[in-house]
Parts: sequence; structure tokens; C-alpha cells
Amino acid sequence: MEKILVIGAAGQLGSELTKSLSDIYGGDQVIATDLHESARSKFDYCRFEALDIMDQAKAKELIQKEGIKQVYHLAAVLSAVGEKKPLFAWDLNMDSLLFVLEMAREFKMEKVYWPSSIAVFGPNTPKINTPQYCVKEPNTVYGISKQAGERWCEYYFQKYGVDVRSLRYPGLIGYKSLPGGGTTDYAVDIYHKALAGEKFTCFLREDSSLPMMYMPDAIKATLDLMHAPSESVKIRSSYNLSGMSFDPKAIYESILKFHPDFEIEYQPDFRQGIADSWPDSIDDSCARKDWGWKPDFDLDEMTKDILENLPNFKF
Ligand code: NAD
Ligand code: SER
Repeated sequence: MEKILVIGAAGQLGSELTKSLSDIYGGDQVIATDLHESARSKFDYCRFEALDIMDQAKAKELIQKEGIKQVYHLAAVLSAVGEKKPLFAWDLNMDSLLFVLEMAREFKMEKVYWPSSIAVFGPNTPKINTPQYCVKEPNTVYGISKQAGERWCEYYFQKYGVDVRSLRYPGLIGYKSLPGGGTTDYAVDIYHKALAGEKFTCFLREDSSLPMMYMPDAIKATLDLMHAPSESVKIRSSYNLSGMSFDPKAIYESILKFHPDFEIEYQPDFRQGIADSWPDSIDDSCARKDWGWKPDFDLDEMTKDILENLPNFKF
């Protein structure tokens, strides 16, 4: 049986990915881990251990004792928080990835998943339909850590044969948890405000277009990549991935179709500078060709799904 370790499982992505992994492999085969014991209550369908991935002795003991075969390493400091705590972000994002890659090599694990981001791109990158291969000069510590991480992933694959797979996610939008300090978080928060009947203050300009993706598409892409035959996974740094692209005005107008009285105002802050350095849209033709990627949701379909389901969701 596969024994799967999810690191940073209580976050925005992990909360949904861990459930899908448990549905596929069985809850007794999946060990969700996150910093605090308080996260245990989220994981009544699988195993849970409180684990700070920077406590490498404890993490190694767990990996060894449980005979872990696959790791989904999701713990990271995201872009906006990273700009507030750059050295902390670098240490966590890099040290934890290198540790996971080393564990995979030492214990001959079957597979590792590690997410990268559109943050690997920078102001000198082509903005429209950003290609898989192009100039990458990220100017956030988060982006620098993801770019370096991609190089390490490819290195461990080529040098040691570690089967590591990765996606450059766009901004992820889900309603089952709150986001963890990114520049694209506004596109989650806006739905909560609309449903609460409150005016939304957006920290980006109305015309600030970014690549985005609804969480069910992100989960599908992750599992499709992880289940693809090894020979189909031709890119071992990280794959470009695209769902949709929109700006704050477009998501506001999408919500207006359901909540015609909803109001928005724009007060751009430091996150505008981060958004301005990222692409508007992404060319994901390599993912489409290599392992058959195709998204299901556009902006209006996502809006409808969130506004229908969020009111009934129990946090
Ligand atoms: P998140 O901030 O919501 O979740 C991260 C989780 O990691 C949190 O539950 C946090 O408690 C945990 N964590 C932090 N430090 C830890 C440590 N030392 N040990 C163990 N756990 C720790 O982030 P997310 O949105 O779920 O993102 C998950 C991954 O996907 C990250 O690598 C992120 O860079 C990447 N990603 C996310 C997005 C997005 O839009 N959310 C986009 C691109 C890439
Ligand atoms: N959505 C993430 C962020 O805004 C990008 O990886 O930080």
C-alpha cells in the first residue's frame, strides 16, 4: 500500500487535497501533518500528526517509522507574508524542500509532489500567454524560493532519480478554507464579503489581471500529474498550468449577476507591486500535451459554485 505524508495539510490547498488523497488511497494510508495540534479536528477522515517540518529529526523519525512512500509537501510562506518576513520565508521554503528531497533520496520514496507558482515569473517575463520556458527574474522572496526550488527538483530527478513532480499554480480559489497570505487572496475574500452583504475593499487595482484557478481544477491537475506514467512527465522543474485569467472588476461583475447590490472599492497596497510583476495569462500547452491537462471551470461557473455552496459549508 502507498503510505502518504501531507506536509502543511491544514492550509488552503491541503484541506482539499488531503481529502481527495484519502478518498483514493484510504484514510488509514494518509498522514496529514501541520504545525498545530488544533488542526486535528479537520482530519476526522485520515490520520493526523502535529509536525513542524523544520523539526527535521522528528520528521525523519515519522517518515522512517511509517515507511512513507509519497510526500505532498505543501508547507510554505506565501508571497505577501514573505515580503514581510523574507529571511524566514527563504529558510522555511528552501530548507523544508531540500529536507524532503533528501528523505525521498535516502528512503527511495516512490514520488514527491511540491507546488511551485506563477511567482517564479518576474517583471521581465512576457506577460501574455507566458511560455513554459522564458526569462524568469522574480522580485519577491517567495518567487525566488520557488524558482530555486524548481531547480532543486530537477536536480534531484536528474542526479538521483527522485520522482518529483510539480505545478506552477496560478492563484488558487477555494471556499473550504481561508487563504494563507498571498497576493491572490482577494479573489477568495470577495466571496465571503458578498455573502455577508458587506462592501468589499480590494487591495489590487480594478484592472489588475492575474492567472487564477478554482480549487477543484487544482486538485484534478495535481492528481492527474501524480498519476501520470513517469515517462509522460517530461518537465521535472515545474509545469505551467492555466485555468482562467481575470481582474478584480471581472470577478466583481461575475458576483453582481447573483448579488446585484454588492459593492466594491479599490485601495491598492504593497501587494499591487507583487501582482504587477506576475503574468496576466499562462501558456500551459506542455501540461496539455504531456499528461492531458484541461480545466473544467471558468469565472462564472466558479462564482455560481462558490455562492451556492459556501453558505452551507461548515468551517
Ligand atoms: P497555506 O498558507 O494556506 O497553507 C500552508 C500550510 O502550511 C498552513 O496550514 C501552515 O500552518 C502550514 N505550515 C507552515 N509552516 C509549517 C511548518 N514549519 N511545518 C508544517 N506546516 C507548516 O498555503 P496554500 O495556499 O495551501 O499553499 C500550499 C502550497 O501551494 C504552497 O507551497 C504554496 O506556495 C503553493 N501555492 C499556493 C497558491 C495559492 O494561490 N494558494 C498558488 C501557488 C502555489
Ligand atoms: N497565490 C499565491 C500568492 O499569491 C501565488 O503562489 O502568493
